[in-house]
Amino acid sequence: MERLLLRNVDKENSHTIEVYIKGGGYQALKKALKEMSPEDIIEEVKESGLRGRGGAGFPTGLKWEFAAADVKEPKFFVCNADEGEPCTFKDRVIIEKDPHALIEGMLIGAYATGCRYGYIYLRGEYPIGRKILERAIAEAYEKGFLGENILGTEFSFDLYVHSGAGAYICGEETALIDSLEGRRGEPRIKPPFPVNAGYLWQPTVVNNVETLANIPLIIERGGKWYSQIGSPDCPGPKLYAVSGKVKRPGVYELPMGTPLREIIYEHAGGIVGDRKLKAVFPGGASSCVLTPEEIDVPMDFPSLAKAGTMLGSGAVMVLDETDCIVKAALRLIEFFRHESCGKCVPCREGTDWLVRIVRRIEEGQGTEDDLDVILSVSETMENSFCGLGMAAHNPVASTVKKFREEFLKHIKLGRCPFRSGQ
Ligand code: NAI
Ligand code: SF4
Repeated sequence: MERLLLRNVDKENSHTIEVYIKGGGYQALKKALKEMSPEDIIEEVKESGLRGRGGAGFPTGLKWEFAAADVKEPKFFVCNADEGEPCTFKDRVIIEKDPHALIEGMLIGAYATGCRYGYIYLRGEYPIGRKILERAIAEAYEKGFLGENILGTEFSFDLYVHSGAGAYICGEETALIDSLEGRRGEPRIKPPFPVNAGYLWQPTVVNNVETLANIPLIIERGGKWYSQIGSPDCPGPKLYAVSGKVKRPGVYELPMGTPLREIIYEHAGGIVGDRKLKAVFPGGASSCVLTPEEIDVPMDFPSLAKAGTMLGSGAVMVLDETDCIVKAALRLIEFFRHESCGKCVPCREGTDWLVRIVRRIEEGQGTEDDLDVILSVSETMENSFCGLGMAAHNPVASTVKKFREEFLKHIKLGRCPFRSGQ
């Protein structure tokens, strides 16, 4: 497949405005501002079928339509660049290697929705990205793509970078907005959705980095063209971040809906040492595990939901036969316990209980009853206040269900069967 999202990343100095413009950059913005009305743009994005790439897969055109319909002013356009889930690193490639694609996507989105000010909420642990984005924004101001009366039109837009301080929960859009307002980031109740009451309770569009990098392509080549790439229900190119026991870990751009088996065995080169595949988390740390028999699934939102898991941000984590599934589940739930904001009981207590129980099993001190307690705690966590708690139990509950024998082996042996020297 022709590289679309990653078309610029291998060019020397791909992060500079000169290289971006030379490759056709900012032509989509010119077309949008000079030849298209905000309504035309929203229609084009709706026709493309683009769904948000942050994890939830909400239709982008619809989100923009809701924001455009709200008459309160000023409106804000926020890029969620706080990718913080373990093994999720696809947005980083765009931020560091093609920042102008992101800025151009934001500009087009802001024009379509009537937003005057924009923020890129950047993961605190991406200091290189911050420097690159700040430089790119300065370049865009210099060339007249940001600021007052952009390209001689009535459209004005100012853009700022705001670094997070390391809290994973600030990737949840309402916690992100709290943090942007200078407060401790905690999720807010939804509805109202940010499109109507977001930053400073004003209409606010929040889009993921990869989502926005698609926008110049859609405006340049048309929504119809875009809708023919990948899965019909969920089209477009997709960045998959593959990590773990594969020969060639990395970020792969492939059509949405590429089978998971193809991603692991063709693009990522198969399993290290040609060992056997044991398990895959197909959509990041909060997705449900898949077994080797389940990897023919197309990697898109509806197919993975049907398979009982989720695409999330498209982070594929691969485990081989030498990995301990109990230890993997423990590591993931430890992350969520650390990152739980503590606002609601099911998540605050549930993640702590799960860590204690899974650790006990991993250390050989567990009982068979512990497995039922894990599933019961997980069920309670479904009632958490936000997506973090609702999904944090997935890696644990799904491994208990699909790899029960391995949990039982730890319990019966009184130790981890994978620990060397035992
Ligand atoms: P959500 O389904 O509540 O919302 C998705 C988006 O659509 C939001 O922007 C929301 O404001 C908007 N939306 C939904 N219904 C709407 C309506 N009726 N009107 C207007 N706007 C509406 O999902 P959420 O909680 O925002 O995101 C959860 C996802 O985030 C998970 O699926 C997970 O995969 C992903 N995630 C991604 C991470 C990353 O590092 N990229 C980390 C953790 C989770
Ligand atoms: Fe905070 Fe977890 Fe509750 Fe979300 S689910 S509000 S992260 S405690």
